[in-house]
Amino acid sequence: MTAPRKLFVTTALPYANGKFHIGHMMEYIQADIWVRFQRMNGAEVNFVCADDAHGAAITIAADKAGVTPQQFVAGIAAGRKQYLDGFHIAFDNWHSTDAPENHELAQAIYRDLRDAAGLIETRSVEQFYDPEKKMFLADRFIKGECPNCHAKDQYGDNCEVCGAVYSPTELIEPYSALSGAKPELRSSEHFFFKLSDPRCEAYLKEWTAAAGHVQPEVQNKIREWLYKDDEGKGGLGDWDISRDAPYFGIEIPDAPGKYFYVWLDAPIGYLASLKNLLDKRCVELGGDGISYTEYMADPELEQVHFIGKDIITFHTLFWPAMLHFSGRKAPDHIFVHGHLTVSGEKMSKSRGTGIDPLRYLSVGLNPEHLRYYIAAKLSGRNEDIDFNPDDFVARVNSDLVGKFINIASRSAGFIGKRFGGKLGAVTADGEALLATLRAEADNIRALYDGRDYARALRDTMALADRVNEYVDANKPWELAKKPDMEARLHDVCTVCIEAFRLLALYLKPVLPALAGSVESFLKIEALQWPDAMKALGAGHAINDYKHLMQRVDPAMLDKLFESDEPAAAAPAAAPAKKAAKAAAAPASDPNAPGGEALAPTISIDDFAKIDLRIAKILACEKVEGSTKLLRLTLDAGEPQTRNVFSGIASAYEPEQLVGKLTVLVANLAPRKMKFGISEGMVLAASHADEKAHPGIHVLEPWPGATPGMRVR
Ligand code: 2FM
Ligand code: ZN
Repeated sequence: MTAPRKLFVTTALPYANGKFHIGHMMEYIQADIWVRFQRMNGAEVNFVCADDAHGAAITIAADKAGVTPQQFVAGIAAGRKQYLDGFHIAFDNWHSTDAPENHELAQAIYRDLRDAAGLIETRSVEQFYDPEKKMFLADRFIKGECPNCHAKDQYGDNCEVCGAVYSPTELIEPYSALSGAKPELRSSEHFFFKLSDPRCEAYLKEWTAAAGHVQPEVQNKIREWLYKDDEGKGGLGDWDISRDAPYFGIEIPDAPGKYFYVWLDAPIGYLASLKNLLDKRCVELGGDGISYTEYMADPELEQVHFIGKDIITFHTLFWPAMLHFSGRKAPDHIFVHGHLTVSGEKMSKSRGTGIDPLRYLSVGLNPEHLRYYIAAKLSGRNEDIDFNPDDFVARVNSDLVGKFINIASRSAGFIGKRFGGKLGAVTADGEALLATLRAEADNIRALYDGRDYARALRDTMALADRVNEYVDANKPWELAKKPDMEARLHDVCTVCIEAFRLLALYLKPVLPALAGSVESFLKIEALQWPDAMKALGAGHAINDYKHLMQRVDPAMLDKLFESDEPAAAAPAAAPAKKAAKAAAAPASDPNAPGGEALAPTISIDDFAKIDLRIAKILACEKVEGSTKLLRLTLDAGEPQTRNVFSGIASAYEPEQLVGKLTVLVANLAPRKMKFGISEGMVLAASHADEKAHPGIHVLEPWPGATPGMRVR
């Protein structure tokens, strides 16, 4: 017997500035399956996460909401449970990077890096400053024209149109996305972690190359950052770890007005959440609890981080170096997954495209169907996966229900009705089948351990096929009609139930709730992996069979996607008037109000699909190459501004609009236009007969409305 594995497992800490999207759920499901699987194999696991609370985006979101960042983060944190419980994600602890444990740990790690390792230095840095907001601007809060393709309104770090990466100082005509003001370059003292130090370089080359730390495909990626090219260019640069006040973060010791950059203290939040958990347990268990220091000192402990491919550098370079050179344990495994697309479409991190997890639950879809589908797609490699609704229905209905659940529904009734709910003896052919199923236990275990859930499920479903072939060959429903076949019927149905138990065991990491129902149906203890080698045995009594899982109703998927349907008739960014016309398609009628007949009646639910928000016009300008369009920069109460093109140039000079409030169709799908991306539409009134009644009138709310308020 080998000693049980000791695992400290985390998922990436989500920013506390928004709700979970389906991409978060994918990562949590991936990690939760792995943790459940390890526990079934006797491992001692602490599985933790936390809100990533700091940074400029959260300060600004809180500001707009009129609350403190702490209150804002608390509100977000309070909403997490329904997602996690809803999808059976069993974290042992959920904490926050703003918690005292994280402040203490971040400052201690920093001091060790500075004093013991000598890896911190200060340098003067030139950076954009917003003279109106009186603060230095993070890259995401500077916008301007892309220096490469000249698309307007691109962020300070990269262009969403051509994909170019640059620094904010390279933007043409930069402006602050917070106030619209022209930013000034100012210098300030910043703190750097000297990653270019030869010690860091040598250590990271060794750490990243060591087997098991990162996947091979990720190793290749890291080499591009870590190694200099033939001309000696590239390689690791020093990392700027400080930000100037005002900043919601952790103060840098001995440096008033300076804070740790959010990415310095975020991964330390893994340790803070673990410490918080262990401290709580120590209080609960008294002397039986283990301290954080003692736990981390255990040489057998494996530290495992599940992350997405967009944050590889932070976890494979900065994080191991921070830990190692501050005299702490470095991670043992960084498991990187790709992104989730929905019907081939990339999701936006900030806005709710794709599938809303809570909507998934509220329309009545089964959370374990999503777990099953996601697992069936995850290979353990750093590859993107796609949620395809038709594929989802097919896999759940034909595999999970059609192959697996069916085994019980075709056999259990006979055990209940004909044999008093008791299992019988199994003869040779049945034993052979069960032996085939048991022989796969090690293979399936290895696949789960390597996070190749796709193959684990494929192999499990191939076993379900074998069982169904056995059922089809033996036809219990026909045996039941023949009085002399009573014993054979008992044998066949017993084999089915024994096989069903084995398959439920193999599926349990993915389908914990279903496995729980199977355990009560079979009247057994919670299934563990070694139970694959056991049998229920003749005479074991089971409960009456109740249907264990419904098929997916494709109509529910339609409901799921309803809210995200782009307005079909109205092109997202079309000039306001044209879009309004296209949407309503009214017949021009000089006697009707406004020159057009009323559009067909809609229900209140139809109306509720349109999310109208108050927005402030921060900036407005003519669009070169278009006589109709104005480009508006809008504050709709969100962390970032929106860029919207509107066909109102004939009616307004840009300066007439700046500073005004208006109404924005906020959930219109973004649209890429020749001039840039339009992220919504502003409302304006006009007569159907433009010639006889010229004029376009942008809507303006009564005083008191503020950006972000919903119009209903
Ligand atoms: O990318 C993100 O969403 C970050 N909040 C992830 C942080 S992971 C860890 F370092 F905290
Ligand atoms: Zn560009």
